[in-house]
Amino acid sequence: MPIAEVEKIWMDGELVDWADAKIHVLSHALHYGSGVFEGIRAYETARGAAVWHLEEHLHRLFRSAKLYHMDLPFSYEEIVLATKDVIRVNGLTSCYVRPIAFRGYGEMGVNPLNAPVNVSIAVWPWGAYLGEDALEQGVRSKISSWRRNAQNALPAAAKADGQYINSVLAKVESLKAGYDEAIMLNEAGFITDGSGENVFIVRNGVLFTPPTQAGCLDGITRGTVITLAREREYVVREENLVRTDLYNADECFFTGTAAELTPIREVDDRQVGAGHRGAVTKELQDAFFAATKGEDPRHTDWLSYVDD
Ligand SMILES: Cc1ncc(COP(=O)(O)O)c(C=O)c1O
Repeated sequence: MPIAEVEKIWMDGELVDWADAKIHVLSHALHYGSGVFEGIRAYETARGAAVWHLEEHLHRLFRSAKLYHMDLPFSYEEIVLATKDVIRVNGLTSCYVRPIAFRGYGEMGVNPLNAPVNVSIAVWPWGAYLGEDALEQGVRSKISSWRRNAQNALPAAAKADGQYINSVLAKVESLKAGYDEAIMLNEAGFITDGSGENVFIVRNGVLFTPPTQAGCLDGITRGTVITLAREREYVVREENLVRTDLYNADECFFTGTAAELTPIREVDDRQVGAGHRGAVTKELQDAFFAATKGEDPRHTDWLSYVDD
């Protein structure tokens, strides 16, 4: 998806012109994947742009950095302010937000500890990740032949640059085979997540999603949807799922910051349920989007207003 350029990017404490937000070709992260990042969205609300779950995303960023022994040269509070500044200065009312902390230029070799840590935050307008129609029509998904990174190889507890090459294998395989998105199994054959989304199914009115121990990212949208579903009296179970659970589900959907809440209408050429967005998916989607707009009074604390 091409990037819609805006004016400024926050880089190491400065707001620099989009075209000047560059790094050296010998940056450590480019060679060894030694960075951590977040994907966040800001939504338009009646009180202006608001960042969705900013605190949770930034806490995950700092946890990811800790796992890789990266000390960020900026405090949590400074990153909060920088995120709001870069949205404000670009005049965006809704956008995607990409903070990244990475090992920069100065050292080569696998040891990252002496390389500097750089931090940047880019923002740009980004529509529906899996296509505008997908939110209503649903997507076609394929169980990947590539297994999800094993927990003791590349831990899913961190959102690190390098681990995404695993998702890239799966995503490209699914696209080349004519599908929209991949779903990955772990070494034991249980469902983990999509290349960039968590997975839910609905069976007899009960929601199921894999536990994080299966090897999926502890998605912030996943947590949001679990809360919204339980508030609506749904039972939600975090249980291991196998691929046939997806084929035989009444409904199936992805959750993620980029994908938001996207129905899955087919898995491995088997129609899921009625083959279009189901009633539970629609109810949760509506609840989700209402909350992102600040229209759910129970959850206004999920929004951090850019101009507060
Ligand atoms: C592999 C993977 N699983 C799940 C998710 C969904 O996580 P979140 O809802 O925090 O965006 C993402 C997106 O960051 C991801 O990359």
